[in-house]
Amino acid sequence: MKTIKWGILAPGNIAHKFATALVTIEGAVLHSVASRDTARAQAFQQLYGATKCAQDYAELIADPEIDAIYVASPHRYHAEQTMNCLRAGKAVLCEKPMTVNLSEAEQVFAAANEHHAFYMEAVWTRFMPIYKQISSWVSEGKIGTVSSVQASFGINVPFDAAHRLYAPELAGGALLDLGIYPITVAQMVVDQAPDKVVAVAELGQSGVDESTGMALHYPNGVVATLNCGTRANSSLDCWIFGDRGSIHIPQFWQAESATLYQPEESHHSSARENATECHLPHAVNGYEYEIREVNRCLRAGLVESPLMSWQHSRDVMHIMDTVRAQIGLKFPFE
Ligand SMILES: NC(=O)c1ccc[n+]([C@@H]2O[C@H](COP(=O)([O-])OP(=O)(O)OC[C@H]3O[C@@H](n4cnc5c(N)ncnc54)[C@H](OP(=O)(O)O)[C@@H]3O)[C@@H](O)[C@H]2O)c1
Repeated sequence: MKTIKWGILAPGNIAHKFATALVTIEGAVLHSVASRDTARAQAFQQLYGATKCAQDYAELIADPEIDAIYVASPHRYHAEQTMNCLRAGKAVLCEKPMTVNLSEAEQVFAAANEHHAFYMEAVWTRFMPIYKQISSWVSEGKIGTVSSVQASFGINVPFDAAHRLYAPELAGGALLDLGIYPITVAQMVVDQAPDKVVAVAELGQSGVDESTGMALHYPNGVVATLNCGTRANSSLDCWIFGDRGSIHIPQFWQAESATLYQPEESHHSSARENATECHLPHAVNGYEYEIREVNRCLRAGLVESPLMSWQHSRDVMHIMDTVRAQIGLKFPFE
């Protein structure tokens, strides 16, 4: 089995979680790390036992030993940094959202095609084992015909103009950071692009969205009602409703469990009858599944993962572009 040598670009908050998972995976090594601040890269190298530490991003990207680079910077920089890696022939796993808008996303796909390099957006939720169970329940008709999906991801983060969530120059706001998860879970259930998207939002003092509601209608008749926000904690769960039952997914973006409800008489019974609970805890912290998928794809010579296809990313970016146009959210650098 070929050992996949990884590099990490921009070792911040999420990169620590990623590295914690990476170092447990057989057939993969953390080869190098690069930061704008060399001391931060050196501390990260020591903490996770990386083979080396690059002087800067350019040195990491040019390192001939590296197979794959994990891009973990704020959204605004994803497109440029990803394309720099792809042009050097590196495989890229880039944090979500893959770019700020669909136009940038298309440039990333074009670069991956041109340089025959693997590219995947790091939407960790898509690889969590519990979603295989949920998908089986839906496809086996356990809840009958699906008519709606509801998902809510709101967290209470005190306003801080310097925080990337509230900074327009870093493409902040609830939608791109949190809203991408309820959209993703709806897309996973329905597996087609919506034919109608309607959105409303409250834009805060820095001009980015702080509370956003979305309704998506799909060609197969499913309606998804989704919301996200940064000023209040919300239910943090997802429900999938069908004419014979429902599925509840607590903390759906990092899900380890789900409950199937199959009431005897769906017309009259409470939605919460006849529960079957499934619990599939993460082996490490949940990031291991997306890393394993990249390793698998690279060994198989793929440029795209069938589990997180470019079309999946494209559909989600298109929805977020549509929502932003409706709520009037444009970033200063766009
Ligand atoms: N999958 C998930 O569960 C998950 C969770 C959280 C975040 N994310 C995503 O991961 C990305 C990073 O989030 P984070 O919370 O890890 O961010 P963060 O800790 O604030 O920043 C990560 C790194 O980005 C660089 N950076 C930070 N601010 C910058 C600026 N103003 N200009 C240029 N570079 C800057 C820094 O790299 P240097 O060390 O090189 O300076 C920093 O170490 C976001 O796109 C976010 O959506 C994903």
